[in-house]
Amino acid sequence: MKTKITELFNIEHPIIQGGMHHVGFAELAAAVSNAGGLGTITGLTQGTPEKLAKEIARCQEMTDKPFAVNLTFLPSLTPPDYPGLIKVIIDAGVPIVETAGRNPAEYLPTLKEAGIKVIHKCTSVRHSLKAQSIGCDAVSVDGFECGGHPGEDDIPNFILLPRAADELEIPFVASGGMADARSLVAAMALGADGMNMGTRFIATQDAPVHQNVKEAIINASELDTRLVMRSLRNTERVLNNGAVERLLEKEKALGADLKFEDIIDEVAGVYPKIMHEGTMEAGAWSCGMVAGLVNDIPTVQDLIHGIMSQADEIIKSRLQNF
Ligand SMILES: Cc1cc2nc3c(=O)[nH]c(=O)nc-3n(C[C@H](O)[C@H](O)[C@H](O)COP(=O)(O)O)c2cc1C
Repeated sequence: MKTKITELFNIEHPIIQGGMHHVGFAELAAAVSNAGGLGTITGLTQGTPEKLAKEIARCQEMTDKPFAVNLTFLPSLTPPDYPGLIKVIIDAGVPIVETAGRNPAEYLPTLKEAGIKVIHKCTSVRHSLKAQSIGCDAVSVDGFECGGHPGEDDIPNFILLPRAADELEIPFVASGGMADARSLVAAMALGADGMNMGTRFIATQDAPVHQNVKEAIINASELDTRLVMRSLRNTERVLNNGAVERLLEKEKALGADLKFEDIIDEVAGVYPKIMHEGTMEAGAWSCGMVAGLVNDIPTVQDLIHGIMSQADEIIKSRLQNF
């Protein structure tokens, strides 16, 4: 399938694996890229430029296909060394960067001068237009369904994607709630040039996370996610568990007085315990409503190839027969 996104990123299939904290390691990024999609290493999980350089080198040993690095810009008292991380991305010849969080304008000239293509992930039409105006090459439009941070507008993809299609000139992929060939064909019908998946890629044999995490996703239904940290304007969609229930109780009790320190036990530093040790009650972790559509743990290769061949079938048999 050729789309503006496959052309832009020089990939075979219009399927992207979004950056995921403590999931997006070289193993997953390489598996997605080797299967013809675009894999992504999560920069901030590595933390320092030295560690990121090593992870990029590991990925380059596992694939000769293009892959991306995700840079998430979060408000922080001790911000990561973004210029250092960007330098190793450029020095290693990584062709694509996925930015997310804050507007990446500050770092865009450096990335563009190095010939890097930038796809910015955002949750609204206005932020997508901003990304376009500052020179991003593409956007990943992340609907309210998504795992992780859906923003504060709560617009699901059935509205958000056609709105983006009406306004944007640069290509975009649909993100949030995407799981299979039906998602891809629907996203393309709504105006996207491909899709970005997070949660679906965690439940694969190639994702370097604990088996408990994969099983939690396949055992979850579309009713099992919760939104946390809304009053901090840092809303996150997470899988419900004991820690999330506790967190929600605190949010209810403290209301507008809630501070980050009140919920630190449930959210700070919990990812390594969950993703690597499989301690599922350790805290809140991002997960999309799409968990309700995920019922197996295939290899990334089987997942991507299955999606592409079923998409073909949907287009040629189902849609053309109406
Ligand atoms: C466990 C997990 C961790 C994530 N971490 C990040 C991150 O560090 N940076 C980022 O830009 N997006 C992150 N995301 C969001 C994904 O890249 C992607 O946009 C989102 O999962 C899409 O929604 P879906 O889960 O419905 O496919 C994360 C998502 C999950 C599920």
